[in-house]
Amino acid sequence: MRLDKFVCKSTALSKSEAVELIKAGQVTVNGAIEVNETTQVHENNDLRLNGDILKARDFRYIIMHKPAGTICSNIDEAYPSLFNHLSVENPSELHIAGRLDADTTGMVLITDDGRWSFNITSPNKECSKVYRVKLSKDIALDATEKFKVGIKLQGEQNLTRPAALEVLTAREVLLTITEGKFHQVKRMFSAIGNKVISLHRESIGNVKLDVEEGQWRYLTPKEIKTLS
Ligand code: URA
Repeated sequence: MRLDKFVCKSTALSKSEAVELIKAGQVTVNGAIEVNETTQVHENNDLRLNGDILKARDFRYIIMHKPAGTICSNIDEAYPSLFNHLSVENPSELHIAGRLDADTTGMVLITDDGRWSFNITSPNKECSKVYRVKLSKDIALDATEKFKVGIKLQGEQNLTRPAALEVLTAREVLLTITEGKFHQVKRMFSAIGNKVISLHRESIGNVKLDVEEGQWRYLTPKEIKTLS
């Protein structure tokens, strides 16, 4: 495993904080200062941060069905945090890989592995997210083609990445996108003159939401790998 990942796994540090400490010469591997964060290390190496032994703990990977009226934040704000539904130790160490709006329901992935969540949220990794969307007006005939080409969102320079639209009924569609700009789905429909009235995320990558609203479970090793 890379040294920066090991430091993250054995502390509450983010990846950038871990890299900073490594580069500052505060981490030793078998007694020698190591400043290269990409160096491969093993559990049985003697790894220390400022002299304190580092011991890696297991990362956590959780799937949750977010209820409407909760926010993707570690603390309650205008709405209660979805973490109120998560009964685990040290929830403040966890973060959400791809937030949903307060009124959006569906699948969220929660982890303390920043490198793993980057694979899910970075547009360059092209991890697909499928949304079930209910609309206030009938879907336009040319919407599928427009979404495939890319949409110019208000305030954005570049077009959205190609998105796949499956029309279920005149006012209900499935939309697959591979990026997660702020309010992206709502803004995409707004750009073609429609309005989202309900939004639900059904899947991320190959993993489908299979728990009831407000419930959660740990991902299986196979699911963790498929999202890596
Ligand atoms: N797009 C949105 O507009 N809202 C969400 O919650 C998720 C994607």
